[in-house]
Formats: sequence, structure tokens, C-alpha cells
Amino acid sequence: MRRAVCPGSFDPITNGHLDIIARASKLYDVVHVAVMINQSKQGLFTIEERIGLIREITAEFGNVEVESFHGLLVDFCKERDIPAIVKGLRAVSDFDYELQMAQMNNGLSGVETLFVPTNPTYSFLSSSLVKEVAAWGGDVSHLVPPRVLGALTERLARK
Ligand code: PNS
Repeated sequence: MRRAVCPGSFDPITNGHLDIIARASKLYDVVHVAVMINQSKQGLFTIEERIGLIREITAEFGNVEVESFHGLLVDFCKERDIPAIVKGLRAVSDFDYELQMAQMNNGLSGVETLFVPTNPTYSFLSSSLVKEVAAWGGDVSHLVPPRVLGALTERLARK
């Protein structure tokens, strides 16, 4: 079984994330989506909500498993025998930090990182920008899956 992991905060998952997960799911037998638990940062959605949304949205791929993790990503990989991390690269500005992480992760455990060029439609896209635009009433319907748009609209209305 060829396995890979797509890690992230996914607060919430965007069409950019989904594009990378969909492409990884064609290249690997199983894709693990690993949702990072960050105790020092309060998200808009809880970890369970993020996992629920990602599970619903990726169910159609048939080979995506969604879990949370805390601590080192390489430990998540080791426990599940995952040899590869798949990451999207949006622009050159992503590259410096992503390269550092890839080299650190490889040095720690031998896990490889594969970079997938983001679809140019989503090269400016991030969860933070989606939240900011949506919070001010901007239209993000082309940037997130419909299920996420509903959850976002409902959550922001309660704030
Ligand atoms: O969506 P994000 O917040 O940009 O994702 C960042 C993430 C989760 C991929 C990165 O912070 C990570 O891998 N964190 C796990 C902790 C870890 O392994 N740190 C060492 C990286 S070299």
C-alpha cells in the first residue's frame, strides 16, 4: 500500500487544500489528512468540526482517511508507516519555509516531502484570508466547498 499524508490546520478546508488532496488521492493508495491540534491557537472551528467537514467533502475519493495529530508530523508518519508528505506550493514565498520543514522532517526520520504546484486559481488562497473576507461579508463561495460555506456562514453569524 502506497501511503501519503497531507497535513495542515484546515481551519477550514479550502478549495486549494481540496485540490491537493484530490491530486494526491490519484497518486497514492491511501491519503491520510492530518489535522494539526494547536493548543496555543483558538480556531474558528474545533478539531472535530474540521475533521467532520473534511470527511464529508473527501468521502467521494474513497481512499482518504482523516485524523487529528499533535506533536511532530514525522511521529504521525512513523506510527502509520507513511513514507511521504504531500504539500501544495502556492508561490515562491511558500518555498523557503516549506524547504526548511521538508529538510528537517527528512533529517529526523527519512520521510520524503513531495511538492505539488497549486492550481493557479488558488495561488492566493488561504484559510485565514477566507475567514477574513467572509467575516466582512465578502463572497467566498468560489473558494470553499459548499458544505464549508454553509458552516462558515453559520459560525460567523453567531459571532
Ligand atoms: O495549514 P498549516 O497551519 O500551514 O500547516 C502547518 C503544518 C501542520 C503542516 C506544520 O506546522 C507541521 O507539520 N506541524 C507539525 C509539527 C512538526 O512536525 N513540526 C516540525 C516541522 S519541521
